[in-house]
Amino acid sequence: MKRPLADPFAELRKATDRHRAQHGCGAYPYGNGPLLGTLAAAAHARRILELGTALGYTALSFAYGAPDSTVDTIDRDPEHVRLAREHIAAASLDHRITVHEGEFAKILPMLDPGYDVAFFDGNTPAPALHGGLRNLLRTGGMLITANLNHGGTADAVYKALFGGKSWRSALVDDSGETAISVKL
Ligand SMILES: C[S@@+](CC[C@H](N)C(=O)[O-])C[C@H]1O[C@@H](n2cnc3c(N)ncnc32)[C@H](O)[C@@H]1O
Repeated sequence: MKRPLADPFAELRKATDRHRAQHGCGAYPYGNGPLLGTLAAAAHARRILELGTALGYTALSFAYGAPDSTVDTIDRDPEHVRLAREHIAAASLDHRITVHEGEFAKILPMLDPGYDVAFFDGNTPAPALHGGLRNLLRTGGMLITANLNHGGTADAVYKALFGGKSWRSALVDDSGETAISVKL
């Protein structure tokens, strides 16, 4: 029997799908917000970094799951940033979630290292951005990479996460879409 996800932000997930249809953008909401929140809770995350805010679905899932955390989330689309800030304020989590507007590559160097959890959900993963995320993550911190089965630059990221001695990694689904990795 297929059970529902019990997702407190299910409505925002649906709103993100509706927004994408109208806006013609790439705001595909992540499939399982409760998984992200629970992983962050298990890691006792205090600082979380997200690449790819869209309307705030996953940033809210992280903040809800890890009640002692703050979340920095980045998106370059001004409409997504505006809507995400609205949804985050409506959920009364704006004191713990900061939405940074801009290109990932421009914002990452402005952030302080030492994140406990980082989440890449900004379309296809690319090695340079993953290098930046690694630098910002503490040793023992958790990196969650979505869209790892997109091909192209994602294949090089897959190789780095699974082929070397820098990460301990596991895929969380049969399709190879998401990996969870610990920085060694
Ligand atoms: C798949 S959506 C994020 C979905 C979101 N995490 C959720 O689950 O609702 C990807 C987002 O990344 C943003 N994005 C893509 N490439 C970017 C870049 N290079 N710099 C900043 N934002 C980017 C897009 O504007 C889009 O909102």
